Amino acid sequence: MTYANVCIICITAALMIASLPTRAQNTVPEQGPTVVLPSPKTEGTISVEKAIATRRSVRSYAADPVTLAELSQLLWAAQGITDASTGHRAAPSAMAVYPLTIYAVAGNVSGLGAGVYKYTPKGHTITTISLGDKRAELFAAGSRSQVKDAPMFIVIAADSAYASSRFGSKSAHFTDLEAGHVTENIYLQAGSLGLGTVSMAGFDAGRLKTALAAPDTITPVYLMPVGRAKK
Ligand SMILES: Cc1cc2nc3c(=O)[nH]c(=O)nc-3n(C[C@H](O)[C@H](O)[C@H](O)COP(=O)(O)O)c2cc1C
Repeated sequence: MTYANVCIICITAALMIASLPTRAQNTVPEQGPTVVLPSPKTEGTISVEKAIATRRSVRSYAADPVTLAELSQLLWAAQGITDASTGHRAAPSAMAVYPLTIYAVAGNVSGLGAGVYKYTPKGHTITTISLGDKRAELFAAGSRSQVKDAPMFIVIAADSAYASSRFGSKSAHFTDLEAGHVTENIYLQAGSLGLGTVSMAGFDAGRLKTALAAPDTITPVYLMPVGRAKK
C-alpha cells in the first residue's frame, strides 16, 4: 500500500467520522448539582388518538404542584433518548444533530427545589443552572398573562452556534421546525398525565435569557408553562 493510498483511507475515515451525528454539544455552563430523574414510563393510560383529540392550550393553572415524576416524563417526551444504540431521541432531528437545549424552570415541583435546570438526555438528568424561583422573571414587566401562576415552565431553546456549525444557513429554519416537534410531544404527554400546557412564542427573549442565565449561543424558541388546568 502506497503512502497516497494510506492518506486517502485516512481522509475518507475522517470524513465519515465528521459526518456522524454529534451528540456532545453543550455550550450551556453547568453550575450546580445534577439530579438523576425518575425513569420515564413508555406506556400510558390514554391512546395517542385520545391525546390528540383532547389536546387544547391551557393558560390558567391550579395551585397544585407538578411532581418530579411528571417533570421527568415531560422532559423525556421532549428530548429523551428512545434508542440507546443510536442515541436517537423522542422528537425527530435533521441528520440526528439534536441542536436543541431544554430548560425546566421549577417553581412548585414536589421533590425538586425551585430553580432553573438544564436537561441532559444522556443519563436522563437535569443540572442546576441556578436556585430560586425565577418564574416571575420569565415575563416582561406588566404582562397580565395568567400563565405566570404555572408551577413550572419548559423552555425549548436552540443552541444556535452548534446548529450553525452543522446546518449553515438552514440553522434557524431547522431549529424552529424541531422545536415544533418537541412542543407537540410535550402537549400530548402533558395531556396524557392530566396536565395542561401552551406553546408560547410571544415572549421577551432578552428577559427570558437573563432569567435562564443563558449564554449568547442559546436562542429561546418556545416557552411552555405546565400545570393542572384551573377548574
Ligand atoms: C408559533 C406559535 C406561537 C404561539 N404563541 C403563543 C403565545 O405567545 N401565547 C399564547 O397564549 N399562545 C400561543 N400559541 C398557542 C395558540 O394560541 C393556540 O395553539 C391556538 O389558539 C389554538 O388553540 P389550541 O392549541 O387550544 O388548539 C402559539 C402557537 C404557535 C403554533
